Amino acid sequence: MRVVLLGPPGVGKGTQGHRLADEHGWALISTGEILRAAVAQGTPLGLEARKRMDRGLLVPDDVMIGLVWERTLAPDAASGFVLDGFPRTVVQADALDSMLQGRGFHLDRVVAMSVAEEELVRRLSSRRECPVCKRVYNMKSLAPMDGSRCDDHPEAGLVQRADDTESTIRRRFQVYWDETAPLFDYYRNQGRLCEVPGAGPMDEVYRALTVALGC
Ligand code: AP5
Repeated sequence: MRVVLLGPPGVGKGTQGHRLADEHGWALISTGEILRAAVAQGTPLGLEARKRMDRGLLVPDDVMIGLVWERTLAPDAASGFVLDGFPRTVVQADALDSMLQGRGFHLDRVVAMSVAEEELVRRLSSRRECPVCKRVYNMKSLAPMDGSRCDDHPEAGLVQRADDTESTIRRRFQVYWDETAPLFDYYRNQGRLCEVPGAGPMDEVYRALTVALGC
């Protein structure tokens, strides 16, 4: 199955996408994670992307389309994938359709998740991640066992993402409303959108997602 998870920063795309991919044997393709790995490695892509990510701005479409083109060809994506963070613009959505059609495939589902903005700000402000395994925690809703260190890498303190400061979070929302929210209508008008509430306990959101996906 080829699935897109759509929604604002902090809605739970990564949290739910990882679980869906793990439980169904699909690849999780998170464009944010790919970019953060490039930033950490200091590659030319990472150095360029960082300038935009730290300001809450999108990385150019042609760069992102090239990345997703490559990543969706990897062997682990052959039996299906969950896209988290792509597409983010109408240009990216058109390119995704063309790339899949060119390979004789199509998107099976586009799932849109929504949560009230103040809750999203709370979630993002309290998100932390392990610098070793990149596991995502939340100091309010999903804290590590000892309160401050990764359960699997207790030697490493949890860190906050560079773009999870309040001013950058607000900028990311603005960019989301300007560039990405139009994709709700884009997919809805094509009859391809299913909507799932992103609020509530993570297990409940997951159950609603699996119902929407029929899996
Ligand atoms: P990206 O990493 O994709 O960031 P984002 O879309 O802003 O989404 P987040 O990762 O912040 O949130 P999420 O929805 O995954 O939430 P999560 O599950 O972590 O992109 C980062 C940057 O890269 C972009 O700003 C841009 O610069 C660039 N970029 C990436 N893709 C691009 C593209 N296609 N084009 C151009 N540029 C691109 O959950 C958040 C927190 O809430 C966690 O702590 C979690 O534990 C907690 N949580 C989750 N669910 C619940 C729940 N039900 N209840 C309580 N807490 C919850």
